[in-house]
Amino acid sequence: KTEIASVDNLLAKEFSYTQAVDLLNEGETVAFPTETVYGLGAIATSESAVSKIFEAKGRPQDNPLIVHIGSKEELSTFTQNVPNLAKTCMDTFWPGALTLVLPIKNDSLAKNVTAGLNTVGVRMPDHPVALELLRRLKQPVAAPSANRSGKPSPTKAAHVYHDLNGKIPLILDGGATGIGLESTVLDFTTEVPTILRPGGVTKEMLEKVIGQVNESKLTDEAEAPRAPGMKYAHYAPDAPVYLIEASTGKVGQAIEQIHNDQKKVALIATENYRLAKADYYFSLGQEHQLEHAAHLLYEALRSCDETDANIILVPIFSKQGVGTAIMNRLEKASNGKWFES
Ligand code: TXA
Ligand code: MG
Repeated sequence: KTEIASVDNLLAKEFSYTQAVDLLNEGETVAFPTETVYGLGAIATSESAVSKIFEAKGRPQDNPLIVHIGSKEELSTFTQNVPNLAKTCMDTFWPGALTLVLPIKNDSLAKNVTAGLNTVGVRMPDHPVALELLRRLKQPVAAPSANRSGKPSPTKAAHVYHDLNGKIPLILDGGATGIGLESTVLDFTTEVPTILRPGGVTKEMLEKVIGQVNESKLTDEAEAPRAPGMKYAHYAPDAPVYLIEASTGKVGQAIEQIHNDQKKVALIATENYRLAKADYYFSLGQEHQLEHAAHLLYEALRSCDETDANIILVPIFSKQGVGTAIMNRLEKASNGKWFES
């Protein structure tokens, strides 16, 4: 049975952190909130502890984990030859939703953290609970998102509980996460720094600070798994997700057509679509409020699993600012499918 530990009053807080630190030191896993999504952590130097993450999530072994630190001093224990531009990024964006891929120091971390790569993804999360935990522990923590592999990442403790109950000992409950999408992953081992996964820290924000940044279309786990021919499902509810042009007219027609086929439809969209006649509607907030849509997206995708909808429709977002990250997740959730009328 998985325990949910509160950190919202002084007494509970002290007990919860002590429990979490003890469990981690004993080689167990603990779920905790960050500003992006909830993570499932284990001590990054322990291969047996890290293997429990893969087991609980059902995660493919060839997908490397992000290492979380509470102070920059920890960085030199497991990275080397950190480029100056990377240091500039740390000074500007840490703590924050930016993961840097850096050269790893040999034999410094458990091999299953990096899936055998000679690089490591690292970030300092900007969340009081995550930082308090990491600073008490004083050790790097490997932590992927705390969902079952393939499902949307958890933005609330209840989502972690739903996916991992009975598989992990403890969830630190810090309420809903702020950003709601995973961190931007920026690779510093290429000549020009390359975004492997878009997130809250946008290309525009990065380029203001370090100049040219490339966007990879290929390197993220979904497009380039190391096992050829295999493609992982991502952020996927049970019913199929279809993208559709952002037009209330088009969405209305699509719903009619789906109903004519005797099927039920869930619509995930901003408030301007609320009056469309979908069987289920999950709001992504006011139109053009991309940050808010990002914050609501994963819970909306999860909510569809509580319905009997046969089809999930999502009108697309413009790829500006956080819109790039939203569309990246939606393209994966839908596996690139568009609604054809
Ligand atoms: O916001 C986040 O990043 C959350 C919170 C918990 O920090 N974590 C997260 O972890 O999203 P995960 O495991 O779900 O996603 C990690 C991503 C994957 O796309 C993985 O392929 C990539 O980071 N990654 C990790 N290490 C890498 C490396 N050495 N080289 C390239 N990509 C790497
Ligand atoms: Mg994940």
